[in-house]
Amino acid sequence: MEPIDRRDFMRSVAGTAALAAADLPVTATPQPALSSSSGLVLLTTWQWGGKANERAAEVFHSGGTLLDAVERGINVIEDDPKVMTVGYGGVPNADGVVELDAAIMDGTRHRAGSVCSLHMIKNPISVARQVIEQTSHTTLAGEGAFLFALKMGFQPQQLLTPESLEVWMKWKANPNRKTFWLKENHDTIGMTATDGKGHMVAGCSTSGLAFKIPGRVADSSLVGCGVYADDNAGAASATGNGDLMTNYCTSISIVSAMSRGASPQEACEEILRHMAKTDPKNRYAQCAVIAMNNRGELGNASMNDTMRLRYAVWRNGRNEPIAESPTVY
Ligand code: GLY
Repeated sequence: MEPIDRRDFMRSVAGTAALAAADLPVTATPQPALSSSSGLVLLTTWQWGGKANERAAEVFHSGGTLLDAVERGINVIEDDPKVMTVGYGGVPNADGVVELDAAIMDGTRHRAGSVCSLHMIKNPISVARQVIEQTSHTTLAGEGAFLFALKMGFQPQQLLTPESLEVWMKWKANPNRKTFWLKENHDTIGMTATDGKGHMVAGCSTSGLAFKIPGRVADSSLVGCGVYADDNAGAASATGNGDLMTNYCTSISIVSAMSRGASPQEACEEILRHMAKTDPKNRYAQCAVIAMNNRGELGNASMNDTMRLRYAVWRNGRNEPIAESPTVY
């Protein structure tokens, strides 16, 4: 059977709804340097990043920490049923169950929290945050993550919406449906942030690959893969084929490159080129990455045109127009 690719998905009901969620202008934007005195800078994946940035900035400027800002910014997208690849209304796994992954990392404490295969809780990024604040663990999975969320006061709810249920039922009813026993597809909200004083945070949240095999966990909740933050260098996040990117520990690779002196843009392009060099098939994969160094300089890149990243930047107190990343191939 053929794998579903992101283009197919975006042409589907889910894709149409996801695109309709944020009909914002797109421009190609260069990556200007930013001095450390410029305050909050946010770089967030996809069209919906602008809404997440606005909320994050509001939280930060109301006295919240950078972690609070990233968490609350991502919550906006988790709560939005029109974004069918994250949180409430996310397209479910092959069994029709919405299964969420998220991680958040504090670059000052060098401390991450994550949850994977979380059911019935619409804000996995907030549960991941509680893993940092209330435990000495880093990752909680499945039933354990769910029971932990209940203990933390999160309310369980059905995460399928009529729209996401319909998408799943159509998939299930198709005798020729694409499955993922060989390959796959997805979309994630990833956010990197600095307070302008060198403090770095990264977070991401996803419902993962549509119709994934139950229990599948990929980059978004794996520290170093979907997120990484280190005040000594910067922060990074990834979106796209999380199974593939997990094999390259994408985010820590980018942050390591920045710590060796690469610019965020060079670091983003370097990891994608490395992926294609080690296996030429990866040149055709759907992968994109974002990065920010501790001076607030930005980078982003997509592997190719089949999944070209759109991203939102908040700096100098406002959202910039949604922009499109360069492609490496
Ligand atoms: N990058 C999100 C996923 O593959 O689950």
